[in-house]
Amino acid sequence: MLEHLADLQREALQKLAAVEQIDQLESWRIAYLGKKGALTKALRSLGSLPPEERPVAGKKANELKQVLEAAFETRHESLRAAAIEADLATGALDVTLPGRKPALGRLHPSTQILREITAVFAEMGFQVYRSRDVELDEYNFRLLNIPPHHPARDMQDTFYVDEEVLLRTQTSPGQIHAMREYAPDPIRIILPGMCYRYEQITARSEIQFNQVEGLAVGHNITMADLKGTLVNFTRRMFGEERRLRFRCSHFPFTEPSVEVDMDCIACQGKGCRLCKQSGWLEILGAGMVHPVVLRNGGYDPDVYTGFAFGIGPERIAMLKYRIDDIRYFWANDLRFLEQFG
Ligand code: PHE
Repeated sequence: MLEHLADLQREALQKLAAVEQIDQLESWRIAYLGKKGALTKALRSLGSLPPEERPVAGKKANELKQVLEAAFETRHESLRAAAIEADLATGALDVTLPGRKPALGRLHPSTQILREITAVFAEMGFQVYRSRDVELDEYNFRLLNIPPHHPARDMQDTFYVDEEVLLRTQTSPGQIHAMREYAPDPIRIILPGMCYRYEQITARSEIQFNQVEGLAVGHNITMADLKGTLVNFTRRMFGEERRLRFRCSHFPFTEPSVEVDMDCIACQGKGCRLCKQSGWLEILGAGMVHPVVLRNGGYDPDVYTGFAFGIGPERIAMLKYRIDDIRYFWANDLRFLEQFG
């Protein structure tokens, strides 16, 4: 028996050394280590040996099994390495093939424009103040000088949660929160965030949109400061040559109130489709903070003055990138979103 095992070992290792192709290895494994292989047969026949020979033969047979398994692994490894090397040599594995590009996410165009606006105002010393989306009627309207039943409420149809709680229709309620936090210190902030209005969705109006509110409160702040700030902002966003026009308007929380137009970026003011032949594009609303609002915020209107403005970032993006339908912003269509970025 021992002799048989020694022969088996010699023969098996010789055959293994002769295997040149990795796919022939398997038939070697079946022939020696498989269920009906030579070694398995030898192990089975141990039972027919005289009892005194069994322990030694059994030990030898098990050792042989380990030797063959280890040899198989080693041979497998070296054939595999050789196969890869051969592939590389013949070019079958083309390591110069460009990899697949992973699809990268990008910032939403509204986020991008918000960051741009924030950066421009940051250079003018404005800090970002965050205010809540879910508001009280008191802050969204009453403290901003819009009492119940005031006709100005009609312009901002509102999502009410209950009689007093609502989704803010504008970022202006943040003015009151900021003033109450900082009074009587001076303030120079912008308040970006989502606003909500219960409106019909069309190419020009959405039920959700961003606003960037601006607020400056302090001593001797005048309309000239407001104009300078807005001219600087517009030129940084749309080019040094831009001109602005201030039109009289009305907001209950500013007095005087203005709406601001810039000369048309498509036709330089000559008149075209974008500006509907007027030569001007409306970009924001603004004014001097109403004395009632200053008082509601905790500032003495005889001592302090301030200005405020409200910008629609989606509107700014639409003008800047010539987007003709506001619904694209929340439609999640990758063909739109992938153009920004
Ligand atoms: N809150 C106004 C709106 O939503 C915009 C505005 C802000 C006007 C601040 C003046 C001052 O229409």
